[in-house]
Amino acid sequence: MKKEMILVTGGTGYIGSHTVVELQNAGYQVVIVDNLSNSNVDVLDGIERITGTRPEFVEADCTDIVAMRGLFDKYPDIKGIINFAASKAVGESMQKPLLYYRNNLNTLMNLLELMGERGVKGIVFSSSCTVYGEPDCNPVTEEAPIKKATSPYGNTKQISEEIITDVINAGAPFKSVILRYFNPVGAHPSAEIGELPNGVPQNLIPYLTQTAIGVRKELSVFGNDYNTRDGYCIRDFIDVVDLARAHVIAVERMLEDKSDEKIEIFNLGTGNGLSVMELIEAFERATGVKVPYKIAPRRAGDIEQVWADPKYANEVLGWTASTPIDDTMRSAWAWQLKLRERGIM
Ligand code: NAD
Ligand code: WQD
Repeated sequence: MKKEMILVTGGTGYIGSHTVVELQNAGYQVVIVDNLSNSNVDVLDGIERITGTRPEFVEADCTDIVAMRGLFDKYPDIKGIINFAASKAVGESMQKPLLYYRNNLNTLMNLLELMGERGVKGIVFSSSCTVYGEPDCNPVTEEAPIKKATSPYGNTKQISEEIITDVINAGAPFKSVILRYFNPVGAHPSAEIGELPNGVPQNLIPYLTQTAIGVRKELSVFGNDYNTRDGYCIRDFIDVVDLARAHVIAVERMLEDKSDEKIEIFNLGTGNGLSVMELIEAFERATGVKVPYKIAPRRAGDIEQVWADPKYANEVLGWTASTPIDDTMRSAWAWQLKLRERGIM
C-alpha cells in the first residue's frame, strides 16, 4: 500500500533528488516543486530509471504564494514537506544578499503559512553545519553554540531555524525536524543522478572530479598551514545517499508522531573528520585516478575544522552514515564519467 504524499521542494536538486529516490523506495508518494533555477528537469528521468516511478512534478517558484496555493489545490493529500529549495552558494550570497534572504526566507514562510491552512503535519528543513561557524571543539553536538553567520547564506539558515521555532512555539499545528548537514558528497551508486554544479564548482568534490576528468587543469588546495594533524582543513564528508535516508526516517517520525517533541534538531554527519588531502588520497585510492593539484593560499572565510557528533541522530533516529568513503568517491567518479558520456561535462 502506498504511504502518504510528501511535497519535496527543490526535489530536482542534488540532495532533493537522492531523497526522492529513497522516499519512493520506502513507498511514499512524492510531489516535487522546483523552479529549475539550479537543476534540470531531466533529473526526473534518472529518478524514474532508479525507482520505476516518475514523481509528480510542478515547475513553480516557492516564493510565489499563488502558485503554491494552486499546488496544494491540485494535491490536497500532501501530509509532509521536505524543504530543500534554497539558493546555496556562499560566495554569491555575499554579492547578492537580498536574493538569498528573499528566496530562502520567503520560500520557508510561504510553506509554513500553507501548512497551517492545509493540514500538513510536518516539515523537514535543510539546515547546515554552517550555523556552528568555527566550533570551539570537535566533534560538534547539537548543543554547540550558534556562531554569528559569516555570510548571508549562512544567516538564512540561522534565521530559518528561528522562524520555524517561533511559528511552532506560537501554536502552529505541525511539527518540524531540522537537519544540519555537514558536507554532502558523492552520487547515487547507479550514476543516474548526482551533483551538477553551475559553472566553475566552488565545492571540493565537483572541482576534484572535473579536474580528474580533465575539464579543469588542476585542483587548488586552499591552505596547508592550518593547525590540524596534516595542516589541511578538516570536514565531515557524508555520502548523499546516507543523508537522503535520514530524511525518510525524519518524515516517518513526524507523520507517525513517534516523538512528543514538536521541534527536533539533528546533526547529520559521519562523526569522522577527514582532511582535504586525506579526501584526495581516498579518491585516488578508490578510483585509481590521479588528481593534479597545487597548494594554494587559504580561502577567505574557510573554517579550519568541523566534524559532527552524530550520536543523537544515531540513537534517536536509528540512523548512521555507513557508506565507506571509498565507495562514496567511486560514486562521485562514476557520476562524472556519466556526465562525460552524456556530453554534459
Ligand atoms: P541544489 O541547488 O542542488 O538544490 C536546490 C534546488 O532548489 C534546486 O533544484 C533549485 O532549482 C531549487 N530552488 C531554489 N530556489 C527555489 C525556489 N524559490 N522555488 C523552487 N525551487 C527552488 O542544492 P542542494 O545541495 O541539493 O541543497 C539542498 C538544500 O540543502 C538547500 O537548502 C541547501 O542550503 C541545504 N544544504 C546543502 C549543503 C550542501 O553542501 N550541498 C549543505 C548544507 C545544507
Ligand atoms: C571543503 C574544503 C576548502 C574547493 C560549504 C559551505 C557550507 C555547506 C557545505 C551549505 C575546504 C577546500 C574546496 C577547492 C579546496 N553548505 N577546497 N579546493 O567550505 O566546507 O562548506 O559547503 O550549507 O555552508 O560553506 O565546503 O566543498 O567548499 O570546501 O581546497 O577547489 O575543501 O578550502 O577546506 P565548505 P567546500
